[in-house]
Formats: sequence, structure tokens, C-alpha cells
Amino acid sequence: MSPFIDRNKNALRPTLARRSFLSSMGVVCASCLGTSLANEIEELPPGVEPSNPRELLYPTPEPSKELFTSESGSFAASYPMLQNVSETSASVSWALNVPSTGWVEWGTTPNLGKIARNSEFGLNPYEENFLSARITGLSPNTTYYYRTATCSFIYRTAYDKTISEPQFSDVYSFKTVGPNVDGVSFAVMNDTHNQVDTVRKHCERHEELGSDIVIWNGDLCHRYFFPLIAKTGIANPCDIPFAAQRPIVFVPGNHDKWGPYAHNLRECLTPWRQSDSRYYSLGHNYAFRLGPIAMITLDTGDTKPDNAVKQQGIASFDPYRELQATWLEHVLSRPDIAEAPYIVAFCHIPIFNPFDEAGIDQSSGLPWKTVEPTSARMWAPILAKHNITLVISAHLHRHSFSEATPERPWPQLLGGGPLAQNATCIHAEGNYEHLTVTAETLFERSVLGTWTFEPRA
Ligand SMILES: [Fe+2]
Repeated sequence: MSPFIDRNKNALRPTLARRSFLSSMGVVCASCLGTSLANEIEELPPGVEPSNPRELLYPTPEPSKELFTSESGSFAASYPMLQNVSETSASVSWALNVPSTGWVEWGTTPNLGKIARNSEFGLNPYEENFLSARITGLSPNTTYYYRTATCSFIYRTAYDKTISEPQFSDVYSFKTVGPNVDGVSFAVMNDTHNQVDTVRKHCERHEELGSDIVIWNGDLCHRYFFPLIAKTGIANPCDIPFAAQRPIVFVPGNHDKWGPYAHNLRECLTPWRQSDSRYYSLGHNYAFRLGPIAMITLDTGDTKPDNAVKQQGIASFDPYRELQATWLEHVLSRPDIAEAPYIVAFCHIPIFNPFDEAGIDQSSGLPWKTVEPTSARMWAPILAKHNITLVISAHLHRHSFSEATPERPWPQLLGGGPLAQNATCIHAEGNYEHLTVTAETLFERSVLGTWTFEPRA
């Protein structure tokens, strides 16, 4: 056997060292619970850089090579994450400790039998941070089984390469989506910002609820200066296979645009493949039917304008939002979406400001960015025109619900923040007669509100 492989299933369990590392993050965060939440949202004022309380609130892990090391000290990969589950396809990604190749074995029974592998131009994948594979040719509303296979791979020369024995994950199952099913559910978590305890609470709640799908509505992590941030904060945040059987749908937040590795986040959060070539570049815009519910996701981008000095020329969000507006009009006219009894849209930054007060950041003296203005201007009229049921947003770390008005005929629901005192779980259950949406405090389980929607006219 290769020295890199431990075929024991325990190889998938992270080390005690990792657990204590994450616990230490929790200790730091708990000591900062009194920090003004305004600090969590806005940019730092000029001249204030590393000592802002946010740095303590959301500590950045140091790079480590031992992230997924098994107790025997040998190489291991993280739990797999299911994404992009559609009527006919699904993708799986998983984090790596060392450069590796790999594949997904899948089938309609636990015996599997088929292989999906992201080969390109004749080469099988070779990656340092994440492997992924896309399973295609599936049928709607059908259960499938899969496991990942990971082989460490060493290049010495063109003729001297070493591949290890495969390390397999457990066998997991998932169900494809589709319109012709009654009784579906989804849950929403948002603004987790690397908060391990919060993510763990979410995962426990999703398991209790048995939600079909989880929307991770932005600001998954605070910033992305190393691939490790995505490995710990997203792929394996709390030592459980939280997304191995319950797919996640990634909706980017402004913090998910920050840092060098934000440019490579697609390695971890596999983009959705648009079927229309006009929208090939829109990897985070989903439109699919979960039974009676049409689910739509939008990417509001960063809070700073594209031409802001702080962007230093790295941002082109306005053209991106404009293309999403065209896409939104296109998908809302698609028969399977237009005919859905309910349409729920998700975007991280609100496109309607629900708060009356001025909202001044006490540390910077600058106004809070409570709305993404370009998105609000371009998307809100389209959502109104197509009579959508609900918009669920995040970003302000403060729960609210805004009833529909004649001027804004869609209601808006906001999830809370990353900490025990402001984290919320939003969950919904829908059938062809009603859609019921509930917001509750995540840690204490107090119901903040329940809203029932009738099918669209
Ligand atoms: Fe945000």
C-alpha cells in the first residue's frame, strides 16, 4: 500500500488537532460577542486596517498541511459536498490534503457501477485543493448512490509518476429534483463567516428538519486568502458530512468576493452549467423546480462600486448584474418556472432596505450599505412583473420580514447574522396548496415568524 493512503474508513475523520484548532476559534469568537454588529458589515474607514474588531470576530485560520490527516497520520480527503443537483445531473466536490486525482462512483443502488470523472483534453484531473466530478444522465425525482475515490499523485519526471491506491468515502445517497413531486422543503443559512458553532447548529437543525436542500445565502467565510479557508469554512466546517446527502446551493455574498482565493472558489463551489450559451459565464445563477417551488438564485456581488479606489481595478460587477437581469427575465419566462405555484428568489445583499433608521456604522461613520443599488434597480421590476412569491436575502445580520406593497409586490425576508445572538434558521415546506416559511433563532429555537403563501395566480 502507498505510504500516502490509509484505507481504513477512519481516514476520513479529521484529527483531534483540527478539532481543538476549531474550538480555539470558537473561544476567540465568544470573547468578542459584544462587538458592534455594525463593524461586521461595512468597509474599514481609511487608515484603519488590521486591528479592527472584525479581525477578532472572524479570525483567519493559518495554512496547514494537516487538515484532513487521519489519526494514523496518512493522507485523507474531506467529506464530499453535493451541489448543482438538477433533474438530470449533480456535481460533487471534495477537499484535498495533497495533490491528487480522483473520481466519483455512482449508480441507482449502493453497488454503484458507474464512474464520473472530470477529464479534460484527455487528462484526468490532477488538483492540489479540490477535486470535483459531474454526474449526468440522471432522471428527475430519483434516488442515486455515490462515493468519492481519491488517489494521491506524485509527478517526478514525465516518465516517473506515482499514483496511490484509491481512498474511498462512505457511500451516500441523494435525490434529484423535479416539478412533479408534492411535499418538498428547503432551509437557508447565511452569513456564517467561518463561525464553526453556528454552522454546526445549522447542520443539526437541517438534519432534524430533513430539509431537501440547503441554500447557503452568502458570506460563507469572511475572506479567502488561502485555499484552506474554503477547505475548513466550507467543505469541512464541523467534522460531519453535512452536504454529502443534502445538497447545498451556493449564493455568493460580498465577503465571498474578497481575497486571492475568491478568484478560485469555483474549485470548491462548482459553478452551475447554464444550458444557454448566452449565460455560460453565470455560474451561480440557478433556476430549478423543487416540486411546486421554482428556486432562483442571484449574485449581488461586492458592496463597493466597481470604480472604487479600494477595488484597484479587480471588479466588474455592474456588467455581471446586468447580464443576470437578462438571464432573470429569460428564466422567469421559461415554462417550468413561469408555471410554478411558487417562485422564491435568493440574493445575499437585500434589494429593498427594510429598515427606517439611518443605519450608520458607528466605527466608520459611514452609512450601512443596506441595499445593492444596481441589483435593486435592474432586478426588482423584473421580479414584480413575474409575480414572484418571496425574496430571501441576508447581509445585514438582522432578521426582518417586509410585507409586499403595491409598489413592491414581493415580500422580503432577511436571515440574521453569524453569532449566537443573531443567527437564524429559515426553513420552508411546500406543497401544491401552500408554501409555509418559518424564521427562528438558530440557537434558542424561538420562532420569529411564520408566513404562508398561496399558489401564484
Ligand atoms: Fe454580506
